[in-house]
Amino acid sequence: MTIWLPSLSSQGTRYRSIAEAIADAVRRGELAPGQKLPPQRRLADRLGVTIGTVTRAYAEAERQGWVVARVGSGTYVREEDAGSSAAFLAGRSDAAAGTFDLSLSLPPPHPLRAQALGRVLAEIATDDAVLQRAVEYQSERGVPAHREQLAAWMTALGMPVEAEALLVTQGGQHGISLVLQTLARPGERIAADVLTYPGLIGAARQAHLKVLGVPMDEHGMDMQALGRLCAQQPPRLVYVTPDQNNPTGRLLGEDRREQLAQLARRHDFWILEDGVQYLPEAERGTPLYRLAPERTLFAFSTAKVLAGGLRIGALVAPPGPANAWAKPCAPRAGWCRR
Ligand SMILES: Cc1ncc(COP(=O)(O)O)c(C=O)c1O
Repeated sequence: MTIWLPSLSSQGTRYRSIAEAIADAVRRGELAPGQKLPPQRRLADRLGVTIGTVTRAYAEAERQGWVVARVGSGTYVREEDAGSSAAFLAGRSDAAAGTFDLSLSLPPPHPLRAQALGRVLAEIATDDAVLQRAVEYQSERGVPAHREQLAAWMTALGMPVEAEALLVTQGGQHGISLVLQTLARPGERIAADVLTYPGLIGAARQAHLKVLGVPMDEHGMDMQALGRLCAQQPPRLVYVTPDQNNPTGRLLGEDRREQLAQLARRHDFWILEDGVQYLPEAERGTPLYRLAPERTLFAFSTAKVLAGGLRIGALVAPPGPANAWAKPCAPRAGWCRR
């Protein structure tokens, strides 16, 4: 009986070459979903490598999401959407096996989402008018149809908002950077949970801001500690991800949300509320932009519910200095459709 034999590249370690050959074969359809890989000993004999090398190769292919090992039965090509699971896991494969990369939170791959996106992108590509609109310059705040769509989406997800209050951004990170650059001057202090989203720290660094870490417990940021910090070194802005802090996953307690709104008024700081994480409505707390609407900026993104690479997000900001970008488009600018 013939068995599937990988063609190995001469570069790199043997086990990695075998794992890569498995990935290639699945991608090209040479190995079909559900197909059994050759028994390890037979493959080792045919390739002239030790059985340990094949065992390690199969384990690596499994770690990357291409195959699954069934005890006592063998190793099989993954049946459920092997491609997207593997692409998902491959993105994380730089980290040493057995460690978790907490710097990004990613939605699990879902074949239906990928299919739906494919259909929509194909529709866009075949409609000249829609395609043209999608690739031309847009107004700074985003075209009304996009803002309405985002507002409807946010409202359905438990973050009620009017389309008029939205600025379309290129994802949550863009919104965070915009806020820091608009509201804080180089050298100023901002505060955040002591364990916080690395993208916030990067954006603050770029804007030459100092980040002060506020202690936290299982209910999120410690408001007494924040109060003490405000008395000593008042920050210009406090950044929080109340619904599932990245990286701890903690939720900010309801009473603490109220306290944060009060502290913001007493010490006159802005709140940057990161609403990028996806949580079902029933599990969300009250958004801070509802509790302190006059001083909270809310950064939303479709990254965790649709696809991070599309770079679509929105920023909600109160009127005034926090909304400096909201100046109306010059009427003479022909490209500015509202
Ligand atoms: C808490 C948090 N905020 C913001 C972002 C960035 O969002 P986006 O990918 O839309 O820029 C991420 C991405 O992982 C995140 O986890």
